[in-house]
Amino acid sequence: MERRILITGALGQIGSELVAALRERHGAERIVASDLRIVPLQRAGEAAYEHLDSTEPQQILEVIRRHAIGTIYHLAALLSAVAEERPHAAWSINMGGLYNVLEAARQYRCQVFFPSSIGVFGPSTPRERTPQVTIQRPTTMYGVTKVAGELLCDYYAARFGVDARGLRLPGLISYAAPPGGGTTDYAVEIFYHALRHRQYTCFLRPDTRLDMMYMPDAIGAMIALMEADASRLRFRNAYNVTAMSITPEELAAEIRKHIPAFEIDYQVDPVRQSIADSWPRSLDAGAARDDWGFAPRYDLAAMTADMLARLGERMRAARMG
Ligand SMILES: NC(=O)c1ccc[n+]([C@@H]2O[C@H](COP(=O)([O-])OP(=O)(O)OC[C@H]3O[C@@H](n4cnc5c(N)ncnc54)[C@H](O)[C@@H]3O)[C@@H](O)[C@H]2O)c1
Repeated sequence: MERRILITGALGQIGSELVAALRERHGAERIVASDLRIVPLQRAGEAAYEHLDSTEPQQILEVIRRHAIGTIYHLAALLSAVAEERPHAAWSINMGGLYNVLEAARQYRCQVFFPSSIGVFGPSTPRERTPQVTIQRPTTMYGVTKVAGELLCDYYAARFGVDARGLRLPGLISYAAPPGGGTTDYAVEIFYHALRHRQYTCFLRPDTRLDMMYMPDAIGAMIALMEADASRLRFRNAYNVTAMSITPEELAAEIRKHIPAFEIDYQVDPVRQSIADSWPRSLDAGAARDDWGFAPRYDLAAMTADMLARLGERMRAARMG
């Protein structure tokens, strides 16, 4: 029997869409979603769901045994802005959770996906076309846990043969679930405010350039990496990926092509601005393209058009229902 796929942190921004994509690809019976949060009632019965705290090693082992898990997408973590507010909790969840997952993967020979981040880079990293292999000295607790996470995955791959793979994800833009407290959340909030109020107050400066990717490309990249031929992977943790490098004022201008009355102003949050200022302005994703065929489909224009159409549909449906 083919072993099942476990997703931790499955109720978050990425998990909500990854679970649906994996169910579609492998069949609902092979997918086990899990999160610290109690599952909302309407989700019960959709497919296996486990209430799982990734900081509790016994819970992970028990779920792996009970469901015959062979692959783990380990998404559970605190995001950059939240981690800066709660650095001790971030260390325990981001590092402790990953260690528990890798240990369980070692014992049960599971494949592991680790979502790293552009947060692994810091002010001493080259900020333009940031290379795959470069200086990684982040100044945030989030970045510290992601760099250490990349190293721990590398260690488990080299020392114990755990098939660990990872991506350095940029800010992700999506409409299915709200973002969880990251520095790039503005790029999601702006769409809700544009459709509802024709106005948005942005917490980053207008010229803050950061990498972004539309969720369908991120999900596609995760699945492609996990299915890639292992012998072609020069890097285990983690591959740079990106689809666009944009500023709030560029995104606002693109939205204005669809909603001409849309207005943006700025009220800078010093914490999130200083995190953004420590991150790259554009990543070089050449290694991901060469090793496993990374090819995002959505640029700024395509993403904006699709986001406005789909989010608009959901908002209309919610008003009617
Ligand atoms: N969304 C992005 O833009 C982005 C970018 C780069 C990397 N990532 C990484 O991808 C992963 C998922 O991100 P997301 O945006 O879906 O985050 P999110 O905050 O939306 O979701 C995270 C989920 O983890 C759960 N969780 C928290 N602590 C837990 C614990 N102890 N045990 C089990 N579950 C727990 C939360 O309840 C939440 O549902 C994270 O590791 C994040 O660092 C996200």
